[in-house]
Amino acid sequence: MQNLDGDDTRPVIHLGQADPSAFPSFRTTPFAEDAVYAALRSAHFNGYASTVGIPAARSAIVKYLSKDLPHKLSPDNIFLTIGCTQALEAIRTALGRHGANILLPRPGYPDYEARAGFCGLEVRHFDLLPDKDWEVDLVSVEALADENTTTIVIINPGNSCGNVFKYEHLKKVAELAKKLGILVIADEVYEHLNFGSTPFVPMGVFASIAPIITVGSISKRWMVPGWRLGWLVANDPLGILIKHGSGWFDKAVRFERVLCKKRVAMASKAEMEGSRAFPDLCDCKADPCCC
Ligand SMILES: Cc1ncc(COP(=O)(O)O)c(C=O)c1O
Repeated sequence: MQNLDGDDTRPVIHLGQADPSAFPSFRTTPFAEDAVYAALRSAHFNGYASTVGIPAARSAIVKYLSKDLPHKLSPDNIFLTIGCTQALEAIRTALGRHGANILLPRPGYPDYEARAGFCGLEVRHFDLLPDKDWEVDLVSVEALADENTTTIVIINPGNSCGNVFKYEHLKKVAELAKKLGILVIADEVYEHLNFGSTPFVPMGVFASIAPIITVGSISKRWMVPGWRLGWLVANDPLGILIKHGSGWFDKAVRFERVLCKKRVAMASKAEMEGSRAFPDLCDCKADPCCC
């Protein structure tokens, strides 16, 4: 807004309304305020914490997220981050390598493009279809993807359209990701904040079809974006990321460039198809940053 032309007198509508705390009617629960206050006064949390988050917080968040999933998450599946923003930074940094590309929704959340460019990820846009409740244009996703595609990003509920994807549609996205051998990043920072009657379904529900990395935070639902608490979760009941990623998932949150997309994707595909003939972890010589 500060970049607007001061001489232009036309009224401007500010559409960037992502901070609920700006409105006095939206205030977080006193339970949360009391808990933070008690934690501060206890003097138990003034030191350096583990970079992946303190165990009690990791356990509490996986318990909360597991309620909506067919599988149970373990505290080892989650990394706490500085808001959802840092979770997204970590994952894009891990995916970035020369020639790799990422599939992003259009319209979408512009931070994705900015950070992807910074990490050396080529951005390819697929459309959300206004006539179909902003569903993903699955045909265009398939046309856009190639052997250098790492990931598809699904923002649900959607920013900027406010749409909520239906169960059947999300399942189709997971099936397409499996077919293409790519990961799904599910940005669920607006989880459970639904307009309309479609219930929110976490993408992790389909993690037995394709591995899903879910990112989220307390910023929106708890209306405290300034508290900067987010997470990055591996929804991977088949253990594909852990088994074939050579620890990349752990390292991702420490900002190391360790993901060899080809290796993970090929292994994921083979594993999901029930084949044991996936490439050995050290077989991939195509990518200098993979091992
Ligand atoms: C789609 C989407 N993802 C991620 C974020 C970042 O969330 P956080 O404030 O927790 O960093 C936002 C913030 O507006 C968002 O709209």
